[in-house]
Amino acid sequence: MYRTLNLRCIQRVLRPGRLYTTPASSTVKVLGTDYLTDSYTNITPTILSKLPLQLHRQPAHPLGTLRTLIESHFPSFSHLSSLSPIVTPYQNFDSLSFPADHPGRSVTDSYYINKDVMLRTHTSAHEVETFAKGETKWLLTADVYRRDEIDGSHYPVFHQMEGAKIFEAAPYAMREVEEDNERLSAHLKQSNIVIEDIPHLTPANPSQPSHNPQHSEAVALNLKLHLNSLLLELFGDAAGATKEDPLKVRWIEAYFPFTSPSYEVEVFFRGKWLEILGCGVVLQGTLDRANVPNKLGWAFGLGLERIAMILYSIPDIRLFWSSDKRFLSQFTPGRISTFKPYSKYPPCHKDVSFWLPSRPDGEAKMHDNDFCDLVRDVAGDLVEDVKVIDRFTHPKTKRDSLCYRINYRSMDRSLSNAEVNDIQDQVVSHLKDRFGVEIR
Ligand code: PHE
Repeated sequence: MYRTLNLRCIQRVLRPGRLYTTPASSTVKVLGTDYLTDSYTNITPTILSKLPLQLHRQPAHPLGTLRTLIESHFPSFSHLSSLSPIVTPYQNFDSLSFPADHPGRSVTDSYYINKDVMLRTHTSAHEVETFAKGETKWLLTADVYRRDEIDGSHYPVFHQMEGAKIFEAAPYAMREVEEDNERLSAHLKQSNIVIEDIPHLTPANPSQPSHNPQHSEAVALNLKLHLNSLLLELFGDAAGATKEDPLKVRWIEAYFPFTSPSYEVEVFFRGKWLEILGCGVVLQGTLDRANVPNKLGWAFGLGLERIAMILYSIPDIRLFWSSDKRFLSQFTPGRISTFKPYSKYPPCHKDVSFWLPSRPDGEAKMHDNDFCDLVRDVAGDLVEDVKVIDRFTHPKTKRDSLCYRINYRSMDRSLSNAEVNDIQDQVVSHLKDRFGVEIR
């Protein structure tokens, strides 16, 4: 599942974070600045090491190329791509009208430097400040950070591109929207791609109280036309798409705290629907906070890795972080090419089963994302995926038992059994130290 910040995900309780710094140190250096740590601090060494890399700004890197291709599709927009990933919870959540109990705020879902500073979880964190600067049409590309499971399409750092366009609110500029809509509709010719659409407004996906529904509808149409034309350009000649077997794209209704109406776009790829973007009509509250209350417009946020994996046929999200020449030397700036796998090395899985220490009711337990961060810190990109294969609570003692299966595989070489055993031993010993578990 693409990690959208909508409310359909399972509610999780807010719990204090776990210190990843040594208890003796009370500060952590992030991009050259020292920050005090507190009970929220959960940023890990692995994550810290990614902050300076800025893959989306490397010209020949697939993510860099995809950024420039999308930017050239919106030539009249401002192109921003160097904003710091360090933001406040206000920027990331409150400025976008997230409710106080939204699960995305929890330390199990987001990386906090301390309670007042975090790593952005989405590029929407910069909407208010960008509108406040007077930008009316802009694209913003950045690295974003979310705590999550480990598998071939999830990585705790990924890249998003936010796009937005705002118009003078009625009555002045609806003509501008309508003209833009006519121009875009004329240009949209179907090629080897089928786009399934849905109504712009429904009772469950309404226009906002302060908006005239007709204007909201025209703006939503403008958003869809811009994105369909981008999707056609990106996927129109996607490898493998033919008249008989066209690429399929669908619009679905969505919910985001900062847009209404809201939509998601999914692409059918290798037998699965993949969410690649979320979007909608910008919430009036966002524009009010940015001091541009008399505007009306749309915003979208798309995941660059998902799109790059489809366009370049890159099978595993870890490859984007590879410094192996056999990966990097395949790409030229500005050109999409099919990735040629240099080899698939054998996987090797190891299981670990343990009892969690019993805790008073309501006290934080180990979350699956805590386990995944621990494994990443020990094994780096040698871990391919992590699954819970057994979970139960002892009926008498009420202790929780867990069994995780860790699948190790290098993308660059064969791993020896001794090496994997060594990594697994370290995982187990960290697990005992940090979480006080009892191995079964
Ligand atoms: N920020 C949302 C996400 O990460 C995507 C989005 C952007 C949705 C802009 C609506 C408008 O899931």
